[in-house]
Order: sequence, then C-alpha cells, then structure tokens
Amino acid sequence: MSSEQIIIFDTTLRDGEQSPGCSMNTKEKLEVARALVDLNVDVIEAGFPIASPGDFEAVQMIAERFSDRSTICALARSREDDIAKAKAALANAEKRRIHVFLATSAIHREHKLKMDKQQIIERAISSVADAKEFCDDVEFSPEDAARTELDFLCEVVEKTIAAGATTVNIPDTVGYATPNHYFKVISYLKDNVSNIDKAIISTHCHNDLGLAVANSLSAIEAGARQVECTINGLGERAGNAALEEVVMALRTRADFYNVHTNIKTERLFPTSQLVSSITGMKVQRNKAIVGRNAFAHEAGIHQHGVLQERTTYEIMRAEDVGYAGENLVLGKHSGRHAFRDRVKELGFELDDQTFQKTFDDFIALADKKKEIYDSDIIALIDNRMTDA
Ligand code: KIV
Ligand code: ZN
Repeated sequence: MSSEQIIIFDTTLRDGEQSPGCSMNTKEKLEVARALVDLNVDVIEAGFPIASPGDFEAVQMIAERFSDRSTICALARSREDDIAKAKAALANAEKRRIHVFLATSAIHREHKLKMDKQQIIERAISSVADAKEFCDDVEFSPEDAARTELDFLCEVVEKTIAAGATTVNIPDTVGYATPNHYFKVISYLKDNVSNIDKAIISTHCHNDLGLAVANSLSAIEAGARQVECTINGLGERAGNAALEEVVMALRTRADFYNVHTNIKTERLFPTSQLVSSITGMKVQRNKAIVGRNAFAHEAGIHQHGVLQERTTYEIMRAEDVGYAGENLVLGKHSGRHAFRDRVKELGFELDDQTFQKTFDDFIALADKKKEIYDSDIIALIDNRMTDA
C-alpha cells in the first residue's frame, strides 16, 4: 500500500506565541515564517487577527509574502467580527485557510459560553458557512474536544462538515488525553460520522501530561491526516506537540505508520535554533531531535559500537535533522571561507550580495562577541533575508 501524506500544520506563530514570554514582533514573525516555509510546512497558522493590530498586521504580511508556498491560516472564534478580521487579513493570500473554533465540552458550555448544545451546533454551522463564503479551505475546531461527550462531538463534526469544513480538528485543549483514549476518540469519529470521508481529521494536542507527541501519533494510527504542532513544542502552559518529534517519529518508524510528510528534515535543527534565539526559550540539551545532546554518545561502549556500525546505537543520523556538531564555533579570525562553509552546512544558499552583507554583519558581531554559534549565524542570515 502506498504511503499517505500527513499534513503538517505549524502553529508556532499562534499557539506557540501564546506561551508566556514568547511573544514576537512582526519582523520576528516574518523571520520565523520564512524558516517554516523553507522547512516546507504545509500550513502556517500565522496568528489570530482580531487579537491585536500587531497580530492582524503579521498575518497580512505573512500572507502577502509566503502564501504562494505554504497555506496561510488565520484563527477566528465563531463570531462574525472575528471571521471578518480573518478574511481581511487574508484578503491578498494565494493559498489561504480560515480556522474557526467553538468549545463543545460540558464544562465550557456551562461555565464559559453559557450556551446549550443546540445553540453550539447552530453557531458552529453558521460560522463555518460564513468562512466558506470567503475561501474553500475552512477548518473547524470543537475546542476541548477530548473532554466532550462522544455523541455530541460526532454531531458537531458531522454538521460542520456538511456546512463546508474541509478539516475537522479535534483539540485536546487542556492536555487531558492519553494515547489510548485519543485513539478511541478518533476511531469513534471515523466509525460514527457519516460524512467523515469528506474532511481531513486533524490532531491538536497539548502537553500538560507530557503526552502531546504520543497522542498525535495515536491519532495518526487511528486515521488522522493532519497534525498541529509547534517548533520546539512551544505553546500555552506545557506546550503543544513538538513538530520535530512528530516528523522524525513518522520518518524513523515509516515501517509502522506507512505515512510521510513533506518536511525537509535537514532544516529542523536550524529552525529550532532560530525559534529559540528569537523567543529566548532555550532548548534543553537532552531534548529529543534538536537538543545538543540528542546525537552525542558519551559512554565508551556506545562510542565503540557507533564507530563499528552506527546503527548499533543510532536510529537517526544527526545530518538528517541538520545538526552538524558542536565543534564548529566561529570567531573573528575564522575568515570568509570558514564562514561560507558554515552557512552552507546550515543549509542556506545565499546570493553573492546577501552573502557579503551577512559576512560584514558577522565580522561586526565577532568584534563584540568571542564565539559565534550556529544560532547567531542563522539570526544574521534571517535578518538579511527578511530585509531582501
Ligand atoms: O488548544 C486549543 O483548543 C486551540 C484551539 C484554538 C484549536 O488552540
Ligand atoms: Zn491549542
């Protein structure tokens, strides 16, 4: 059987940015958006336009610059004014999506929305229809789906698909699900929603119990075909499913999942470094995939094994995720050649003019700073590329 594609929906700029201390200005968001496009993510959730004029501007600019390469998505609550702002921000986008959400769990219905089930259904249908007038690609999320009664969740999903939703996202908003539980939720939807084949089922897992990646993989096993995730697992509270972990799990265990993504995995490490340097959220050394220890073998017995045959202790190659090693720190005496090689190893191809400007920036920085790390070089390049 041929391998099916998993759509990678990145929400670093929306859910990731909601994480305390992670807010970014428009210029920084544009840098991250460029890195996401280079990573080849399918959908970029660029922001929540009604939230602030800054969010609106960022979605608009990202849509103008990058919507020929990735689909640009704007978030809206199930309200006319929210959806109108999302439409305005995406007006000039080539590939565009509106993502509408409305909570469905009893806790949210009673305490937050003060709406009954019928009112929820009507509001969800009308907002999907409203978004659909603007674009074909409409996503609907029943917020707190993992704590919603299954029969009611089926009804909401069926009716929003009938109203035009092309993706139905099943958020585990508070990170309450476990892998088996989430597998059952997705399977139940597949078995009980009559028109489920007309839409893509999506996962959106928060990491409060440390299970966001495991839950996302369970959902894929049950038939979900889109994963919502963030670089370095950024996101509210304990974060969202980490994009790099989901992507490398699917790639490394393609034998089991029989699916693939479009991600250029060799861009994972540089993108992780860029997001870390922009947000100031450090990546823990032993973080899977993008931590600096992720490919380091300290124990002699492991080193010996890897030297004999790398697959004895390695399930992935460092170069597959774009990690070129620690020992390549540059300083002010490193020179143009070393700098050019490093830029290439980090996966960038710069035209002569951009290279020259970035090299001048590097020399200026090296005057102030003893050692220049990959993250510094990536930031310099991204500054120059964003200016271009
Ligand atoms: O966690 C959540 O429920 C969300 C929705 C807006 C999809 O982020
Ligand atoms: Zn979320």
